[in-house]
Amino acid sequence: MSALSQHLPVMVDEVISYLDPKKKNTYFDGTFGQGGYSEEILKYGCKVVATDKDTQSENFAKIIKQKYPGNFYFRIENFKNIEEILKFFKISKINGITLDLGLSNTQLDSPSRGFSFKSNGPLDMRMNNKKGEITAEIVVNKFSEKNLSDIFYYYGDEKNSRKIAKSIVIERKKKIIKTTTELAGIVKRINSYNHKNPSTRVFQALRIFVNDELNALESFLRDCLKFLNKNSRIIIVAFHSLEDRIVKNFFKENSSKLKIITKKPVTPTKSEIENNPRSRSAKLRVAEVL
Ligand SMILES: C[S@@+](CC[C@H](N)C(=O)[O-])C[C@H]1O[C@@H](n2cnc3c(N)ncnc32)[C@H](O)[C@@H]1O
Repeated sequence: MSALSQHLPVMVDEVISYLDPKKKNTYFDGTFGQGGYSEEILKYGCKVVATDKDTQSENFAKIIKQKYPGNFYFRIENFKNIEEILKFFKISKINGITLDLGLSNTQLDSPSRGFSFKSNGPLDMRMNNKKGEITAEIVVNKFSEKNLSDIFYYYGDEKNSRKIAKSIVIERKKKIIKTTTELAGIVKRINSYNHKNPSTRVFQALRIFVNDELNALESFLRDCLKFLNKNSRIIIVAFHSLEDRIVKNFFKENSSKLKIITKKPVTPTKSEIENNPRSRSAKLRVAEVL
């Protein structure tokens, strides 16, 4: 971890042990964040091509570039554009991939990003808030009741998706819903039985939709195999069942090209969860290119 970083990388020892980085090899870190994985990999004297959608990663990337000149290549991009990223750096083949999906603690904890119902902020939720993706505010205020209900149901597994969508439509007629606190207030009235986390599912669903997270993962998986050398490993840490299912199914469906290394997903140790409670839902899966 660099002096700037606030994000504790999840299962970093397990990631490194499965990746087994070798000097002179090149690895792709598709979710650079604050560089927790990239930096550990670089210690083995290899090259790392890293990317992140969030421009805030640039500051962390600069520090790592200074520490490992010549071995570290970074671009602000969506990892689904792996082909363009590798082309840009004139790299044709890589020896392994790491994806640590979702958000960093810093993104989650910044009220101005609007990811969390725990602090008040604008309903933004874009991972790349410089590019023209739609904001959660647009989704909440402009989408039809049916569309909202589907988003909450399919991306958040929210039981009360219909009631919540209906209530949002009633409230937004009175006044535009602009903040995380306003939205959380509406959801809480319906999910009042769940005192602890009434809004978790709705916020997760909106975030997945706004950032088109599941399509990005599917598209990345479809493309990545053509750049991987034989015996390369794909290591993916997922934080909810929708992502984990996509990874699991992709590994299974490509059994002629991939050997599954983790029959069951690997989860963090008790002591890691104690030290970093947000790691508790992490699931790590690994496959090796045949
Ligand atoms: C859990 S954090 C990764 C933390 C990183 N392993 C570290 O140690 O600092 C996830 C990161 O992935 C980025 N991200 C999520 N989806 C992405 C995508 N499709 N393309 C590029 N970056 C993405 C987020 O912006 C966030 O910075």
